[in-house]
Amino acid sequence: MSERVSSYSCWLPPQILATLWRRKHKLLILLLCYLFLIGVRQLESNPDRVIEIENNVIPNTDSYKQEEVSTSPTLKTILYWNSFFGFKDFMFGFQQQPFIDAKCPVSTCYLTDDRTLFNQSDVVIFSIQGLNLTDLPSYRFSRQRFVFYEMESPATTDPLPLLHNLTRYGFFNWTMTYRLDSDILNRDAYGVVVPVGNSTLSSEYPRRGAGPSRNYSPVNISGKKKLAAWFVSNCVTSSHRENYVKELVKYIPVDIYGKCGNLTCADQTRGREMVRDDYKFYIGFENSLCTDYVTEKLMVGFFYDAVPIVRGGVDYTLFAPPHSFIDVNDFASPKQLADYILLLNETDSLYVRYFDWKRDFTVELYQKRGWCRLCELANDDTLPSRVYEDIYQWWVDDPVKCNLPQ
Ligand SMILES: *[C@@H]1O[C@H](CO)[C@@H](O)[C@H](O)[C@H]1NC(C)=O
Ligand SMILES: *[C@@H]1O[C@H](CO)[C@@H](O)[C@H](O)[C@H]1NC(C)=O
Ligand SMILES: *[C@@H]1O[C@H](CO)[C@@H](O)[C@H](O)[C@H]1NC(C)=O
Ligand SMILES: *[C@@H]1O[C@H](CO)[C@@H](O)[C@H](O)[C@H]1NC(C)=O
Ligand SMILES: *[C@@H]1O[C@H](CO)[C@@H](O)[C@H](O)[C@H]1NC(C)=O
Ligand SMILES: *[C@@H]1O[C@H](CO)[C@@H](O)[C@H](O)[C@H]1NC(C)=O
Ligand SMILES: *[C@@H]1O[C@H](CO)[C@@H](O)[C@H](O)[C@H]1NC(C)=O
Ligand SMILES: *[C@@H]1O[C@H](CO)[C@@H](O)[C@H](O)[C@H]1NC(C)=O
Repeated sequence: MSERVSSYSCWLPPQILATLWRRKHKLLILLLCYLFLIGVRQLESNPDRVIEIENNVIPNTDSYKQEEVSTSPTLKTILYWNSFFGFKDFMFGFQQQPFIDAKCPVSTCYLTDDRTLFNQSDVVIFSIQGLNLTDLPSYRFSRQRFVFYEMESPATTDPLPLLHNLTRYGFFNWTMTYRLDSDILNRDAYGVVVPVGNSTLSSEYPRRGAGPSRNYSPVNISGKKKLAAWFVSNCVTSSHRENYVKELVKYIPVDIYGKCGNLTCADQTRGREMVRDDYKFYIGFENSLCTDYVTEKLMVGFFYDAVPIVRGGVDYTLFAPPHSFIDVNDFASPKQLADYILLLNETDSLYVRYFDWKRDFTVELYQKRGWCRLCELANDDTLPSRVYEDIYQWWVDDPVKCNLPQ
């Protein structure tokens, strides 16, 4: 998300918000590092406390009584333990209304950040960004699910909260991230491709579009005189995308907007119109090449009618409709990619085929299906118990890993 935020400022309204987050984020990280160091120092100077925290396996307290439930017993209580980039409501909301507004199939959940409701909480959500290790629950009930919530890639998340024995081993019951193997898949914030015809998309919840394909107005390409645009402000990344672009521009022109290039866009609206009107291709390279890490960089091209040229650590066919994008990994070299781009540039009939998917899919930016899914699972009393024995291994040390620089 960090990258999303910066490269994004020419785009959508949430991006303005996101830019704010980003600023907050930096401060937050600095603050956290500082407080963590202070915390560590205090722990060091107080050996009793070290023992207390490090040996603290939270006891399960099963003295829970049904009478303790004070909110409607038909609602499951979901507690936000901490905040997400400063947002106490995780940018979703409080109480039951957000689930109703999102038209969730199951909406019988109640969101709160009131820790006095901990005992009656069915689900407790922890944002890994900003998790305070000295501020965790001191007991838990075995029926409760502790949720690991994260939207950044492991290459850009702070691993500290996951390296502590208490949170690392057997602490989390469910994961809620953009990764496809999460218990609750939550990638709506990046925008989602939604089937409208009778097609499906493999990475999403099973969902078949209703009815026949739609009549869409074909993309008007007559005004698109420029080739490729790249909006970027994070100039040095673990994915080394900047090196790839450096090579690519030897063969084709790429207009680079933002801090890392020498073009600027006047404002959000203008940037958005410009891509739609002027450009045939939109460069959507991810900042890190991690399992399932695909962000709005794919969706912006879709949304603004420029064919996305993508580069990430994922199989894009899982996330995007057929024949809707160009993956650099399908080409042996930047030169070969450039040759193909030039071919498309010269051959309208080949180029326009990259919009055929719009008959069967649409792109939506404000879906809340991850939260709906959470509420659905919270209400399913038949689900088995589940524990992540080693969350660090799952998140940071997973077998595929991020392709970090050697
Ligand atoms: C919550 O449960 C704990 C453990 O059973 C108990 O000590 C505490 O008093 C309860 N708190 C409330 C507010 O019910
Ligand atoms: C972490 O929690 C401790 C104990 O509640 C608190 O004193 C400290 O201020 C918290 N740190 C941050 C960064 O919120
Ligand atoms: C943390 O867990 C590991 C693996 O279970 C164990 O070897 C180590 O002693 C633990 N460290 C502390 C400080 O408890
Ligand atoms: C979609 O529906 C049409 C007509 O109902 C059918 O001919 C076509 O095979 C279907 N396509 C898929 C992918 O199911
Ligand atoms: C397509 O765009 C051009 C200018 O960019 C405009 O002149 C033309 O009328 C548009 N065609 C349609 C069908 O909208
Ligand atoms: C800046 O733009 C000019 C022309 O618009 C171009 O010749 C030059 O190479 C660009 N410099 C960089 C660093 O992109
Ligand atoms: C792309 O195609 C247009 C129209 O055929 C042409 O004018 C332009 O020079 C081409 N761009 C490049 C970089 O070859
Ligand atoms: C959640 O994890 C805890 C700690 O590992 C475990 O004791 C508990 O049974 C789990 N709860 C559920 C509902 O899976």
